Amino acid sequence: MTTAAVVLAAGKGTRFKSELPKVLHAATGRTMLRWVLEALRPLSLDRIVVVVGHGADAVRAEAEAAGMPGLVTVEQVEQNGTGHAVRVVADAGALDDVDNVLVVPGDSPLLTPQALGDLLDCHQGGVTMLTAELDDPTGYGRVLRDHDGRVTGVVEQRDAANEQRAITEVNTSIYVFAREQLVEALHRLTADNDQGEEYLTDVIALLSAEGILTSRAPAEVAVGVNDRAQLAAVGGVLQRRILSEHMSNGVTIVDPSATYVGAGVSLATDVVLLPGTHLEGATRVGAGAVIGPNSRLVDTHVETGATVAYSVVLQAWIGAYATVGPFTYIRPETRLEREAKAGAFVEMKNSTVGEGSKVPHLSYVGDTTIGSGANIGAATVTVNYDGFNKHRTVIGDGARIGSDTMLVAPVTVGAGAYTGAGSVITKDVPAGALAVERTEQRIIEGYAERHRARSTPPGAQAAEGGSAIQKEE
Ligand code: UD1
Ligand code: CA
Repeated sequence: MTTAAVVLAAGKGTRFKSELPKVLHAATGRTMLRWVLEALRPLSLDRIVVVVGHGADAVRAEAEAAGMPGLVTVEQVEQNGTGHAVRVVADAGALDDVDNVLVVPGDSPLLTPQALGDLLDCHQGGVTMLTAELDDPTGYGRVLRDHDGRVTGVVEQRDAANEQRAITEVNTSIYVFAREQLVEALHRLTADNDQGEEYLTDVIALLSAEGILTSRAPAEVAVGVNDRAQLAAVGGVLQRRILSEHMSNGVTIVDPSATYVGAGVSLATDVVLLPGTHLEGATRVGAGAVIGPNSRLVDTHVETGATVAYSVVLQAWIGAYATVGPFTYIRPETRLEREAKAGAFVEMKNSTVGEGSKVPHLSYVGDTTIGSGANIGAATVTVNYDGFNKHRTVIGDGARIGSDTMLVAPVTVGAGAYTGAGSVITKDVPAGALAVERTEQRIIEGYAERHRARSTPPGAQAAEGGSAIQKEE
């Protein structure tokens, strides 16, 4: 038996009031469409057809980015309803040669491989629907059954009579159909409803004489996201699922309600996430590393035992036992080797800090290579930009950069060399040398008293019994 999935993703999502197609809105770091595709992935279906329409190019690109074998897209140029969408797919020949068709909506990011697998197991030909029992079924299509409990159809909220609205069993919009029966019924659909659309739900009534099987999903799985409040609620559920999985794999999350971990993040055992931590993109964190509080890491690799506190780290590599923070900004293409340090109020970009080297305070390090065991004094700045081009600074192993050194790139400080505090270094410093660039200190004796006298307003000295300030009162 061969099975194709049809993912309905052509709608605009009017209630989102957005320029972006609804299915491209993200929940917990992944678009809704991507969540749906990821739920389908483990099922190893023979084909996945994504119906695109509103924002077709962007939706197609997102679908293809999932890199799933057998994925094709079909364009539904006018969005005349969920039934119309599947009919367009059938008419395009995308369902030819499959036995069964699994339909899933693109706006149901909580659906799980488990629920879909159960539905497929339940299917015996004909039609099998996934339904759910909701405390508040408002907005969903209601499942209609006769006295014997046989499904007779689905009625949409807006077309339902009051007594039908009291029904709490809802249509999840997830079904499996025998292809031939589906295609035949799709061509009998009318648009005789409140929205004037061809509803896929009407296929249920058209095929009910042959018997409709139902599989029951947990309430959560049914959630279709139609507005941004629902998107936020769904994001919370997905976030809790992700965090629970990490915790069961040995990650400590001190406050899950204040921790955000994207779907593409990987965390080793004994990682500790403190409150206010945001881990995004393809971030990976090694065993025993401590992240947070209040830190954001994007596409960053953190090795074993490193710590990152109160910092923002983008596309960087933080080596084993390295320390970042507090209040540090690490920008792309930065690599801290083992036990390196980027301390308070330090910004780094496109730089390598060698093993055990330290940049402890108030520095800007850009386009720089620092060897191992070097120390960069407080307030050191690599002057990497001349207004036109960026230039590199190279600092050798064991170098000691004095506080408040300006390293005007391109410039090299040799291994073990020193720079004097406050120096503006414009020429290379040989290994083992000291470079100092500042005027000699002068001592001007008695300056303070003379300065005070000069600074006293005219007439103030003549006044009796008080200072100039009292005189002014
Ligand atoms: C639909 C079901 C409803 C079910 C609910 C579950 C119908 C008529 N109603 O309602 O019974 O309870 O889902 O969430 O099917 N789409 C297209 N082309 C179109 C129209 C829609 O691709 O022409 C896509 C949308 O992008 C969306 C999905 O189909 O991803 C569902 O459409 P939506 O308008 O959200 O349907 P609901 O009103 O939620
Ligand atoms: Ca919906």
